[in-house]
Parts: sequence; C-alpha cells; structure tokens
Amino acid sequence: MTLEKIRALVTADLTAVDQVVKERLSSPVALVDQVASYIIHSGGKRLRPLLVLLAARACGHRGTRHIDAAAIIEFIHTATLLHDDVVDGSSMRRGQETANEVFGNATSVLVGDFLYSRAFQMMVTLDRMAIMNILADATNAIAEGEVLQLMTAHDPSTTEARYFDVIHRKTARLFEAGAQIGAVLCDAPADLERALASYGRHIGTAFQLVDDTLDYQADEASLGKHLGDDLAEGKPTLPLIHALQHGSPEQRTMIREAIEHGGLDRLEEITRAVASLGGLEYTARRAQCEADQALAALAPLPETPFKEGLSELTRFAVARKH
Ligand code: IPE
Ligand code: IPE
Ligand code: MG
Ligand code: MG
Repeated sequence: MTLEKIRALVTADLTAVDQVVKERLSSPVALVDQVASYIIHSGGKRLRPLLVLLAARACGHRGTRHIDAAAIIEFIHTATLLHDDVVDGSSMRRGQETANEVFGNATSVLVGDFLYSRAFQMMVTLDRMAIMNILADATNAIAEGEVLQLMTAHDPSTTEARYFDVIHRKTARLFEAGAQIGAVLCDAPADLERALASYGRHIGTAFQLVDDTLDYQADEASLGKHLGDDLAEGKPTLPLIHALQHGSPEQRTMIREAIEHGGLDRLEEITRAVASLGGLEYTARRAQCEADQALAALAPLPETPFKEGLSELTRFAVARKH
C-alpha cells in the first residue's frame, strides 16, 4: 500500500483536518499569518495527523474530536520544525527555503511559539485532561530531546544509548502521543491504549532512524531537504556512530574531526566511509527492527481496514525516500 492508499482510508477526515488547520492558523497579526501559512501549506506529509485518525478509527471512534486532535498534533509538529530549522541552521525544508531563511530566526522562533500555544488553546477546547496530560508531557520531552541533542553535538565519544535517548524524546514521543490519543478519544480499554502508544513509539523511532540514513543518501529533490545537514552541525547520528566504531584509524580520525568541527568539507569522503563501513545498513536494520515491533504491538486491535493502514504505515516508515 502506498502512502496515498493509506490516506484514502480516511480521506474525508484528512480534508476536515486541513480545514481546521486553515481556520485555526489565522491571526490578526499579519506576519504571524504569513509565516504560519508559509510553513503549513508547504506540503508536509501529514503523517502524524494520519496516525491519530487511523488510531482513533481503529478503536471504533465515531465523533469528530479526532479531527481536532489530529490538527493539534500537526501544529505541535510544525512548531518543532520552525524551531528545529533555526537550531540546525537549515535552509531547505519541504522543497522550499526554510522559514528562518526567508523571514529570519527571530520570526521563526516566535511563530513557532504561536503555533505551540495555539495547539494548547485547541487542547483546552477538547476538554479532556488525559489528552492535556499526554501532550504536555510529549512537548516537554521534545524540548528535552532537542537540548540533549545540542549536548551531544560535536562529541565523538557519544554512545548509541545517548543517540536513542535523543530520538525517543525528540521524535518518537509525538508519534506515541498521537497514537495513544486516538485510543483515549474513544475511551478504548487500557490494553488498546497501551498497544497504540507502543506502536507510536516504535514507528516514531523507526521514522527518525530512517531520516538519519536519508541525510547521507537521499535524492535531495524528493527529500525536500539538503543532504549533509546533520554532518554540517557535527551531529553524531547512528550511521556515523557505527562508522566511528568500525573504521580504520584514518577513517576514525576523519569522522572524529568532522563531528568535532562540523562543516561539509569532507561530506563526500565521509558519506563513502559511512556507507562502506555499513553505517547506513546497520541503521536501516535497527529501523526495520523498530518497525517490526510497531507491527507486533498492533496485535490486540480488532481487524479493520484502519488497523491495516497502521500496519502499512510501518512499511512506509522504513521504505520511504522522503
Ligand atoms: C521531519 O518530519 C522531522 C523528523 C522527525 C525527521 P516529517 O518528515 O514528518 O516532516 P514533514 O511534516 O513531512 O515535512
Ligand atoms: C527532527 O529533528 C525532530 C524535531 C523537529 C523535533 P531533525 O533535525 O533530525 O529533523 P530534520 O532533518 O531537520 O527534518
Ligand atoms: Mg533539523
Ligand atoms: Mg534537529
């Protein structure tokens, strides 16, 4: 099943989410409006809202609150992207210049804050303390993950364990929250809520692992981001950590220096080393393992097309090129 086919399972819901997003973006402050629309309408994959919708439907949800919940998750995701591109000094996202490139860092950070707080305003209208709780914890964890990552940047002695700690917080946590909220919305039994939370955590982890391989090997045009962003910032992601453990003394010195100083001077050589030392393969294998665990977590859910959609999403997470 392609991503399009998975989306087709909840077409009407996705259209409704887009409508809510459009309505709730608006602000009387013109620049807020302009920047928020710029990033929201630049064509993200809308994977997290899709996850919320499928999870809610897979638990038999019938109302409309899952629409708002999905929009809230996309707002939070978008806020993190605005902040992340400033922190990472990135200049391309979703196939166009990043907001920080066009409007500057200050504007990006502040509009990110606007989107975060708008998400919390929308949460209040959902009026479910359990959902507030999940999202308050998730956003807090994302911030911790991004800061933790700052602390490991330029540090060649970082470990796999620390890397996984970062990606669980900065990425997996929001997928986990989205899937869990799907269950909470329809008062699903505790075992289904646990199953979906676990599914979200594993697929989110797989998603980031694959993202970290794509930074070394994707086609820039379809990825919509510049390659080498991680290396430029001296980020020891798993492909690099693996290469560092298995390289020759010369390769190790080259990689260590690249992590310490950042920059793209030796991107080509390092990309070749990472590939030949099995860093990409190893990371992809770990991603597959997470995707398998996500799939296994779905076992307690009743057989429905929505469950099938969630299963297929695990395949997309590892096979994706964008
Ligand atoms: C980008 O997420 C940030 C990561 C966690 C790697 P997506 O790849 O889902 O971003 P969009 O929304 O589709 O642009
Ligand atoms: C993604 O971070 C996680 C968040 C945005 C919180 P990355 O920095 O790894 O993702 P890209 O490559 O910029 O999309
Ligand atoms: Mg980034
Ligand atoms: Mg980042």
